[in-house]
Amino acid sequence: MIDQRILDRKLEHIRIVVEEDVDFPDNCSKIYNGIRLIHQAYPGINLDDVDLSIDFLGYNLKYPIMITGMTGGNPGVKEINKMLALIADEYGIAIGVGSQRAMILHRNDDEIRRSYRVVRETARNVPVIGNIGANTLHDLSISEILDIVQYLEADALAIHFNPAQEAIQPEGDTRFSRNILDKIAELLDALPVPIIVKEVGNGLSYETVKKLHGVGINYFDVAGACGTNWILVEKYRSNNEVRKKIAEDLSNWGIPTPYAVVEARSAAPSSFIIASGGVWSGLRAVINIALGANMVGLAKPLIKNLMKGGIKQARLFMKTFIEEMRIVSFLIGVDNLDKLHRSPIVLPSDMLNYMKQRGLDHLVYGEARRFIK
Ligand SMILES: Cc1cc2nc3c(=O)[nH]c(=O)nc-3n(C[C@H](O)[C@H](O)[C@H](O)COP(=O)(O)O)c2cc1C
Repeated sequence: MIDQRILDRKLEHIRIVVEEDVDFPDNCSKIYNGIRLIHQAYPGINLDDVDLSIDFLGYNLKYPIMITGMTGGNPGVKEINKMLALIADEYGIAIGVGSQRAMILHRNDDEIRRSYRVVRETARNVPVIGNIGANTLHDLSISEILDIVQYLEADALAIHFNPAQEAIQPEGDTRFSRNILDKIAELLDALPVPIIVKEVGNGLSYETVKKLHGVGINYFDVAGACGTNWILVEKYRSNNEVRKKIAEDLSNWGIPTPYAVVEARSAAPSSFIIASGGVWSGLRAVINIALGANMVGLAKPLIKNLMKGGIKQARLFMKTFIEEMRIVSFLIGVDNLDKLHRSPIVLPSDMLNYMKQRGLDHLVYGEARRFIK
């Protein structure tokens, strides 16, 4: 039987994210304004020589960027996934699909399965990342998960942790107990590709990364609290006055993206870290990579530009984002990612204070940054 609720929920999420004001209230502008990369009047390089390419999951990508998982699971979103995949392939960046649970629930529905598969078929030259919720792992067998990875020909599987979203979501599933770690350890053995652990916009902490690194995870997408805010998205969908009030009170809940990058890099210094969650400009991308991320990820701006102005507008967004990354790198005298990881960065006192209280102060953190590969 078709679980219409999951299919409808996906469309509703897209509509709310695109049409309504559901971002973190100040988008972390205060934090970003306080983080300083150092302008070099004599950069010592040519803008044309800036090369931000990166090896990721067996591919050489032109830019350290991923369009993170958003959609699939409804015939109506196949075209969206196709357009996103076209952009990923064109610009040489990685791309994820949205939760593949619908694929498991509707294993015989070819249209639903193809709404994901179109990404692999369109983006042949870049990594494609599968997606499943951590809390749903309880209900799924290893072979069901293997099937969604293989059908997509995925280069990695993202497992998303979204307890804040589930806690506010009217039909939320809040089972996040200890045995998720056992299931992930089992999956790591069974899958032919790596697992990326991700949040959806409330940030990964030191403790969470440490636990998951402990069972063998080496890829993390911090998805911090600076961009799309799933507590506010679910508030929009809810008719429950209690949950709505709680959502308002928690509208700033989570770890801001730059802080989450520091938390994750300190907890698992040699792992691959993706900075996402409101990383919506080239400047923010360069700041996060200088701070300790290997790559940046973004979701909402691409789908919003696509829905509002078609592929032309989404392309223009991506082009601007990339050009801004290149120009900022040039202005700090950096022509590759290796140098960017070692470039000077000045942090605001609030951030230093946070790091100090978390035991991640700049001396400790400087050590962790040295492990970036
Ligand atoms: C419309 C939409 C649908 C999403 N669906 C998923 C999903 O199915 N699985 C997932 O892991 N993340 C999902 N996300 C979260 C994004 O991958 C990303 O972590 C989050 O939106 C933060 O990035 P942003 O601030 O650039 O939007 C979705 C995001 C959007 C905008």
